Amino acid sequence: MSVSRIVGVAGSLRRGSLNAALLRAAIELAPEGLEIEPGSIRDIPLYDGDLESSTGIPDAVSRLKDQIAAADGWLIVTPEYNNSMPGVFKNAVDWLSRPSGDNVRVFGGKPVAVIGASPGGFGTIMSQAAWLPVLRSLGMRPWFGSPLHVSRAHKAFDEEGRLVDPSVQERLVRFLEGFREFIG
Ligand code: FNR
Repeated sequence: MSVSRIVGVAGSLRRGSLNAALLRAAIELAPEGLEIEPGSIRDIPLYDGDLESSTGIPDAVSRLKDQIAAADGWLIVTPEYNNSMPGVFKNAVDWLSRPSGDNVRVFGGKPVAVIGASPGGFGTIMSQAAWLPVLRSLGMRPWFGSPLHVSRAHKAFDEEGRLVDPSVQERLVRFLEGFREFIG
């Protein structure tokens, strides 16, 4: 079986992030034929057009852009803030989309899937939907096969941030298998 290599990015800077924990679980549980490498939004500054004009694309942005460009797909692990994606994550993706002439290289036609975890009852359903117009504007190819909304997520992980809920483990594996098939 050929191996697809994807980048997974969690959109929270918090040490105890449920979404970072979900990404770690995805890396551990990735099925045969799928490898997930973590990417980071840490060290990406607030987008400022003056900064871009004067000093260009920050190193943390260029690194993540190159990582996504070299990968077979992108796994977005999104928290939900106020029924949408967190500003810190959207800010990072806004930087990744600069300069716009680079978007075909980095994102064009690339398979992308979105998952997310929240302590609430809806498991990031609204923020996952909020990513869709962004992914369309980047020219990506989203996979919609089997949504994964991890609700009541604080109960799915133990104190060390390990995914201990067997039903979420099973849904995560199924999700990753489907995404692997979609990437082909
Ligand atoms: C939240 N949270 C939240 N949860 C949710 O399911 N729907 C929402 O609209 C919001 N809104 C929201 C706004 C703000 C400003 C904060 C700080 C939090 C709760 C959120 O899901 C929770 O803090 C998660 O733990 C955040 O993800 P990480 O950091 O654990 O990955």
